[in-house]
Amino acid sequence: MLSKNMEKALNGQIRIEAESSQVYLSMASWAEVKGLEGISQFMYKHSDEERMHMLKLVKYVNERGGQSSISALTQPKAVFESFQKMFEDLYEHEIFVSKDCQRRTLQPACSHRST
Ligand SMILES: [Fe+2]
Repeated sequence: MLSKNMEKALNGQIRIEAESSQVYLSMASWAEVKGLEGISQFMYKHSDEERMHMLKLVKYVNERGGQSSISALTQPKAVFESFQKMFEDLYEHEIFVSKDCQRRTLQPACSHRST
């Protein structure tokens, strides 16, 4: 059985993973419209990966007697000055995700890499 503190921390991470998926999806769509096919495919793939991270956490919480929380998400940025600026924004987002995860003391689960 998950403690309430752990459930709360994991639900926060569920939201972060969902928002990350949306951030990558928005970037994928923007790149696709701009004809940046390779970048678009890269971003679509990562959007799917972040969604999978979210789903794993949803199932983990539920299977251990908790209740996963599916919350409203912040709308991601949809227009970028350039693909370089988009990657700079993405870098800042990943720094935020890592720091937020560390703040929740979920350090071992914070390797926010492609898996
Ligand atoms: Fe993730």
